[in-house]
Amino acid sequence: MTAPTQPRTIAVLGATGNQGNGVVRALLAKNSPDKVLFSVRAVTRDPDSPQAQRLLATYPEVCTSGHLQLVASDVYDRASTERTFSGAWGVFAVTNNRLPSFPGSNRMIETEEDLKHELSAGENIVAAAKECGVRHFVFSSLPGIAEASGGRFQSLFYTNVQWPQYCRRNKDGVFRFCPPVPGDKAADWVDPSYDIGVYAAAVFTPGPERTASEIYPILGPKIRLADFPAIFSTVRSQPAVFDPITLDDWGATVARTVGKGYEEDIRQMMEWIAVAPDGKICYGSMETWEDRSWEELGVRVSTFEEWVERARLDGP
Ligand SMILES: NC(=O)c1ccc[n+]([C@@H]2O[C@H](COP(=O)([O-])OP(=O)(O)OC[C@H]3O[C@@H](n4cnc5c(N)ncnc54)[C@H](OP(=O)(O)O)[C@@H]3O)[C@@H](O)[C@H]2O)c1
Repeated sequence: MTAPTQPRTIAVLGATGNQGNGVVRALLAKNSPDKVLFSVRAVTRDPDSPQAQRLLATYPEVCTSGHLQLVASDVYDRASTERTFSGAWGVFAVTNNRLPSFPGSNRMIETEEDLKHELSAGENIVAAAKECGVRHFVFSSLPGIAEASGGRFQSLFYTNVQWPQYCRRNKDGVFRFCPPVPGDKAADWVDPSYDIGVYAAAVFTPGPERTASEIYPILGPKIRLADFPAIFSTVRSQPAVFDPITLDDWGATVARTVGKGYEEDIRQMMEWIAVAPDGKICYGSMETWEDRSWEELGVRVSTFEEWVERARLDGP
């Protein structure tokens, strides 16, 4: 591969969110004072939002040099997406599970049918990338439950559990790990807000000649869920317990916060994770040998211990 003479412009969708934020960080980390590999177009619906402004404030020098820009765009609006992708060499794409809405509003998903809005977003994003002649398109996605479970579960949802989200701090200061999955289950570990960025940057760096059409599962070695507290307490010297929430309680919480249309899907997702074959990775969808991330990209997922060191967990 010949190194590019000009920085390659990457449009990053979801740049103000967990995944995209990590992608921006990892792309910019590839730049050095002598060699700027990537310029980032950070996509947001609202460049004035606190999240968007916080992103800019994190990289003041990069903004001054013009290698990080906020771009206003909405993936449900094909024309604005095309404007955003115009002239970009690469796109990091991710869709959003919330219904299309203005930032700050909170429309609920009432029916399973409502979940299909992500397909429209995906179609717009792919069509805009094709129209703009984007050279390298990296899409963050998940394996389908129906296929992985051999039809046992029919959820529209794609499986991935963000384990860090299930860490809460009780009022007495004890950290509680509460995923609605039995503690003796060993599950695929990932910190999406960190690891997805590392992998995306590693895919963009050699370019499509090396990584086109490849699928890289972003997962670390499996970890028993009940082991979370002991590792956590060792690293942070703070008390922690494993105290799973019930599936019913979890379903009700999701229905309340995201919408009723999500409840059955999220249930099936958790039920599948509890019984997914231990010998397979990526939520039962891949054989271990199919993961070529280390050999081909030289990257691995950061460990649970590293997440504990990185995480800011001081809130309740
Ligand atoms: N993180 C995980 O492990 C995980 C687990 C399961 C599923 N997922 C899926 O992955 C998606 C992304 O995850 P995340 O944790 O990074 O999400 P997040 O932190 O909630 O961020 C969502 C991002 O999407 C952007 N966005 C929302 N609607 C948009 C629109 N119409 N046009 C353009 N941008 C839009 C938001 O930007 P602005 O608000 O600035 O416009 C924000 O940057 C989730 O919604 C979910 O579907 C993630």
